[in-house]
Amino acid sequence: MKKIIILFVISGFLLFLISAKEIKNKTLINKNTDSFKNICNYKDELKYRYLNYYKKHKELPKEKIVTYVNIGLDKKFYTITAPTPHLNKDYILVNKYLYLNNDYVPNNLVNLDNKYSKNGIKLVKSAKDMFEKMYNDAIKDGYKIRIMSSYRSYDYQTYLYNKYKKEDGIKEADMCSARPGYSEHQTGLCIDIDDGKTSYEQFNQSPSYIWMINNSYKYGYIERYPKGKENITGYKYEPWHYRYVGIDIAKFIHDNKITFDEYYSKYIK
Ligand code: DAL
Ligand code: ZN
Repeated sequence: MKKIIILFVISGFLLFLISAKEIKNKTLINKNTDSFKNICNYKDELKYRYLNYYKKHKELPKEKIVTYVNIGLDKKFYTITAPTPHLNKDYILVNKYLYLNNDYVPNNLVNLDNKYSKNGIKLVKSAKDMFEKMYNDAIKDGYKIRIMSSYRSYDYQTYLYNKYKKEDGIKEADMCSARPGYSEHQTGLCIDIDDGKTSYEQFNQSPSYIWMINNSYKYGYIERYPKGKENITGYKYEPWHYRYVGIDIAKFIHDNKITFDEYYSKYIK
């Protein structure tokens, strides 16, 4: 009987210690997550991921921790993916976390006149109309911009990605080409451009590039994979790749020097 009482007292004491530890841990977690809670794009379901990411990146302000985790950057590219919402909207986001199905073809896909591009180039109408305006104003200012690639089907992106993978290996291919379904070229809202003289890869050395950097946002276009933002976009700097997002969003992104991924995480998702 005495033994049973002693055993009972010891188990009670152990249970008390365990619950006290749990309460202490919970209070600590709540105390730490409290500092994220008044950030505008905070999501309660991601609070543990914010904490873990913050532990590894104490140098970052908490606003950035929230935005980066919301994008998915605390996880490796292509490891947590979902179908992208907002199909057929100018602000649709496609990146290494959000994809388009293989049968997605945007509505309102129209052909561009050969004057603006190579033969057979297609864009969504809103992007096409604003490109034509931008092209004509650039010409007036003495600069040429020419589209080399725009809408690409899922199947064509599959062909391109596999080609890069075969030639350069998967690591290099992933830095410059999107996997099928993950290319925003499939949205019909982006363009690869050159100045008609130099290769598109050297577009950043062209005066037309400077014109684009200073003016494209006025027509709703942004540089989508900028220099120094590779950790966010997941792609090497692509000075030739512009994305149509509409004038208001483009102006905000330009003025605040952020990526579309960051804008989307804060204001759209
Ligand atoms: N080069 C861009 C990232 C694409 O393949 O969509
Ligand atoms: Zn491109």
